[in-house]
Amino acid sequence: MKVKIKRQQHPGAEPYWQTFDYDGDGNASVAAVLDYINYRDDIVDSDGNAAERISWECSCLQGMCGGCAMVINNVPRLACDTFVRDLKGSVITIEPLRKFPVICDLVVDRGIIQENLRKINTYIGEYHKETEKDHELEYQIGRCLKCGLCLEACPNYVKGENFYGPLFANDSFFVFSRSKGSGKQIKTDYNEHFAKGCSKSLACEKVCPMNISTLAAMAKMNRNH
Ligand code: SF4
Ligand code: FES
Repeated sequence: MKVKIKRQQHPGAEPYWQTFDYDGDGNASVAAVLDYINYRDDIVDSDGNAAERISWECSCLQGMCGGCAMVINNVPRLACDTFVRDLKGSVITIEPLRKFPVICDLVVDRGIIQENLRKINTYIGEYHKETEKDHELEYQIGRCLKCGLCLEACPNYVKGENFYGPLFANDSFFVFSRSKGSGKQIKTDYNEHFAKGCSKSLACEKVCPMNISTLAAMAKMNRNH
């Protein structure tokens, strides 16, 4: 099997593709494939040329931290939760998320997610008995990894523009619900930074590793306009 990786030495460098051979476990995750390539004594590409170790991010290796979000065979996914056996063909293509600046190889700067959430002052408040019916959705949204896969898949999200993307719609509902329905400002921010720009493609839901229903959050927020 071949593993084709889009590489970039540093933020200003030209990206290039490099292919490696993989003859390890067919049940391995893509994260394990990257480890397999990286932990050989001498790393060589499939042409036999010496190669640098591949930079990529991970922490939990069990789909809980979002660190390993990348584009695998053209689909935004978590490397630790994507398995070789489920990928078609004899080549695995791995790229960094395309909507975030590359730091090195598969490591990107996702700081914009936190910056945008900070701008509109999202915070985790308390559960309120009055909104008990919403607790299930709040719980679901609270599992968001801030991995950015939904921003990668969303056709309307462009870095630095006014539209903050699906994870922001989810967090808006979270904040609204916990402000006992008096969150006037969050409704204004939701309209400005999400409702105006969303075309309801729902590409976000297809890639979310936590199966968060952006549509459910949107329905709640739109009802509260
Ligand atoms: S909503 Fe899903 S895809 Fe988007 S950041 Fe949260 S966990 Fe990732
Ligand atoms: S390493 Fe944490 S989600 Fe993959």
